[in-house]
Amino acid sequence: MSEFEKSEWAQKGHAQAFLENADIYILERRRLFQILRSFYRHFLDKNRTKVLDLGCGDGALTRELLKEDEQIQATLVDGSPEMLENARERLQSFENMHFINRTFQELLKNDAVLDDDFDLVVSSLAIHHLHREEKRSLFEYIHNHLQTGGYFLNLDTVKAPTPELEGWYRIFWSEWIRENQTKLDITERFDHIPEQYKNNPDNHPDTIDEQLDALKSVGFGQVDCYYKYGIFAIFGGRK
Ligand SMILES: C[S@@+](CC[C@H](N)C(=O)[O-])C[C@H]1O[C@@H](n2cnc3c(N)ncnc32)[C@H](O)[C@@H]1O
Repeated sequence: MSEFEKSEWAQKGHAQAFLENADIYILERRRLFQILRSFYRHFLDKNRTKVLDLGCGDGALTRELLKEDEQIQATLVDGSPEMLENARERLQSFENMHFINRTFQELLKNDAVLDDDFDLVVSSLAIHHLHREEKRSLFEYIHNHLQTGGYFLNLDTVKAPTPELEGWYRIFWSEWIRENQTKLDITERFDHIPEQYKNNPDNHPDTIDEQLDALKSVGFGQVDCYYKYGIFAIFGGRK
């Protein structure tokens, strides 16, 4: 059984639960999407931009980018057929959407799965499932599949540099969830999610510094953390 098949994402129903509730418990999810769109407006020119969305889920990131530019040609990759089915449905009204059911580990084993070079590679809340060395290999793979001048942007959870900070970040994440539940008038409780995230054996976040160093080591320039709020970060670089 592969690492992915052993993970919760391979379990039926897990994908659906995430899709239904992500806006309630992912810290400042709307803000993360706004920053993604601002990045696109600022750095990408609208000329049939080729985008790769890794761990696309139901295509939430690609959908946000399509609000900026309907001409995008997107390739969406996910290990879960259930998630890809949701993405297909969500993006059915757009042309030039390609869906690939592969795990990151499978991409790394077979370079020929993606035969294109992309202008922008994005990913959200997926790469932290990989171990440190796998992350570095995936960053290298992404670098190899970017056009010169292309960008990689990762919206993901990261590990805090100390246990004290990690503890505090989880507490204010729970506080934010409670506030958000009140704002959205939701009675179901989600403030246990930060504790669940910590205890989940599928999560392998590394610190922002480790990941920025890994990006630089595989050849990325303009590497930076563009936004960070507790354990949620947006970071990346340019080829
Ligand atoms: C938390 S969801 C995020 C989905 C979407 N990017 C979003 O932000 O809404 C994580 C996604 O990563 C996918 N995923 C996790 N580990 C993966 C792996 N090793 N290879 C490919 N996809 C993976 C899961 O199937 C799931 O769709």
